[in-house]
Amino acid sequence: MRTELGAGLLAQQASASPKYLYDALGSKLFEAICELPEYYPTRTEAAIFERYLRDIGQSVGKGVTLIDLGAGNCAKAARLFPVLQPVQYVPVDISVDFLRDAIERLRLRYPVVRMTGVGMDFSCSLELPAEVRRDKRLFFYPGSSIGNFTPEEAACMLGRIRAACEAGGGLLIGVDLVKERRVLDRAYDDALGVTAAFNLNLLRHLNLLLDADFDVSDWRHLAFFNDAQGRIEMHLEARRSVAVRWSGGQRVFREGERIHTENSYKYTRQDFLQLLERAGFGRVKTWTDERGWFMVCHAHAV
Ligand code: AVI
Repeated sequence: MRTELGAGLLAQQASASPKYLYDALGSKLFEAICELPEYYPTRTEAAIFERYLRDIGQSVGKGVTLIDLGAGNCAKAARLFPVLQPVQYVPVDISVDFLRDAIERLRLRYPVVRMTGVGMDFSCSLELPAEVRRDKRLFFYPGSSIGNFTPEEAACMLGRIRAACEAGGGLLIGVDLVKERRVLDRAYDDALGVTAAFNLNLLRHLNLLLDADFDVSDWRHLAFFNDAQGRIEMHLEARRSVAVRWSGGQRVFREGERIHTENSYKYTRQDFLQLLERAGFGRVKTWTDERGWFMVCHAHAV
């Protein structure tokens, strides 16, 4: 981790992986982002699920093995339980402690559903424990988290999910769509400055992880839609020339130099369907909101 972070900070275009945005405070700030009026994805996706829950349930079928990627507090998946009636629920998340509490609460509500929590970074591998049923696996990957990978990485990720499905398996995924630039820019640079705090908090996390001496007040949050790449980019920009030291390295960042902290790709329906097809999924059903801002897809492993 230190090697990866150090190399990123020393690269000509400095960068840090977005996974480091999510320390304890970062996770809380992300929860706050989801409440913001400007951040439409969470609300829009929830409305799609609410409106089309029956349809989605019919497309997926009952008695699945529900594998929830990046489950967090398990709330999104829990809303599917009444229609999907899963035989087994497998929440997967890097933060095991968080998962344990969420599963305990869910067990009280659904005592007949077998629950198997898995603590792992599924962006690297999707090897699930033997006790996870192979039958009717439905991978659930909401929130457009797929957008935080490059399209090539996203294709690999979808390929790994496909490989972990057998006949009767599938994927239920939420994807943010390309839209008016003004809406996108505001969603990632809100008036209250919550997204700015979320981005800047990465520096506090780096101070802890790398024993670094970033001064948060030397940096500003920058987020904009990059049309050519079809993605929102988040950066931290040096307000002035600053010298930063960390265990194993140091660098002077000139005024205006940036650390690239996150990409959030926005897809067209067509492009995303192609990505699914390339990964070995087919018979795709999609649901969207009235404005066509967000899409939920159910794709069968074929
Ligand atoms: C988690 N992920 C889908 C969010 C997104 O929209 O890309 C992370 C985020 N970054 C800034 N605001 C929200």
